[in-house]
Amino acid sequence: MNIEQLRADTPAVAQLIHFNNAGAALMPTPVIDTVTRHLQLEARLGGYEAAAQCSAELENVYGAIARLINAQPDEIAVIENATRAWDMAFYSLPLQAGDVVLTSTTEYAGNYIPYLQLKQQRGIEIRVIANDEHGQVSLPALKTMLEDERVALIALPVIATNGGPVQPVEQIGALARAAGVLFLLDACQGVGQMPIDVQKIGCHMLAATSRKYLRGPRGMGFLYVERSLCQNLEPVFLDLHAASLQTSDTFEIRADARRFENWECNVAAKLGLGAAVQYALAQGVDPMWLRIQQLAAYLRQRLADIPGVTPRDVGSLTSGIVTFTHQGSSAAQVQQWLAAQDKRINVTTSTFRSTLIDMQDRDLLEVNRASLHAYNTEAEIDTMIAALSCLPSA
Ligand SMILES: Cc1ncc(COP(=O)(O)O)c(C=O)c1O
Repeated sequence: MNIEQLRADTPAVAQLIHFNNAGAALMPTPVIDTVTRHLQLEARLGGYEAAAQCSAELENVYGAIARLINAQPDEIAVIENATRAWDMAFYSLPLQAGDVVLTSTTEYAGNYIPYLQLKQQRGIEIRVIANDEHGQVSLPALKTMLEDERVALIALPVIATNGGPVQPVEQIGALARAAGVLFLLDACQGVGQMPIDVQKIGCHMLAATSRKYLRGPRGMGFLYVERSLCQNLEPVFLDLHAASLQTSDTFEIRADARRFENWECNVAAKLGLGAAVQYALAQGVDPMWLRIQQLAAYLRQRLADIPGVTPRDVGSLTSGIVTFTHQGSSAAQVQQWLAAQDKRINVTTSTFRSTLIDMQDRDLLEVNRASLHAYNTEAEIDTMIAALSCLPSA
């Protein structure tokens, strides 16, 4: 990888050390240029007129996303964030009383709350798959759970918001397919960080966001729905983009995955998402993933050498999200201390409310999260370690 070029494309690295890529990564220059160019075009021409001028470019966004995850353009819907994309898929499923949803201990609260809502409203059952000795989904446990014919859905994140294991999603997908059970993958922290191939994984639906490891603008995301499922899945919300009026009594839902979209959207951000995907493809997701893992391993090893600091990630395969606790300080104090350094260091905190089951299982209330991207460097990690080593304990 050409790290110098990556950093040259990311001007803010001259002023700060950004280890919050799982929150919102720094956008590279081509993404910023795409977004600002379009806003200027809107100012000059008018919003609708600017969009019309960019219609081919807008269409290409679907093709780029499809290439990134090895899908077809008609299987992609561009939706304002990962949560809404996930919701559009989840709430559209015809889940009924007694249907069972299987999830992981690492499930994100934003997804778990909808499970609870459908439990209350429709009487679905939520079952959490046990972990194996490495702390990731136990495949034998999942296989046994799938023997129950009431299981209607497996839904879980490939990488949790608070780090931890990269789930064995290809094996999970194979088990789901063998059992004839739908698989909804939350790839919010995976897309842009690691290779995500929906054919290899075998998921039926996948939700992702723009601003995290993809390095796109905020307020954008996308949903993948496998073509054969798409036409049988009626979106929970419809509008005049997702469907069209045929008579005053009838409407027709569009055939492609855009049935999950709605008409109005942030066109500049949509183009920016396209630019971010193109940028990731040009860098190569495989080498980026390798570098991210190497940087994360280096950070975990250096953290372990600081007295009072405990790295908290588990799993036989881990990601660029590195979590840790500090014996003498709260997560907020660590975050503030690092942000107050001469060269600001951005890390964040993750509390038990985001991933309740996992945090409870591991007896944790909060962790600090340093999430690394390929444009970060070992020298930046050394700077963080030096700062953390001088943290005055509370
Ligand atoms: C694992 C996971 N899933 C879903 C989301 C929600 O993404 P968004 O904020 O784009 O809706 C997040 C955000 O942090 C996440 O970490």
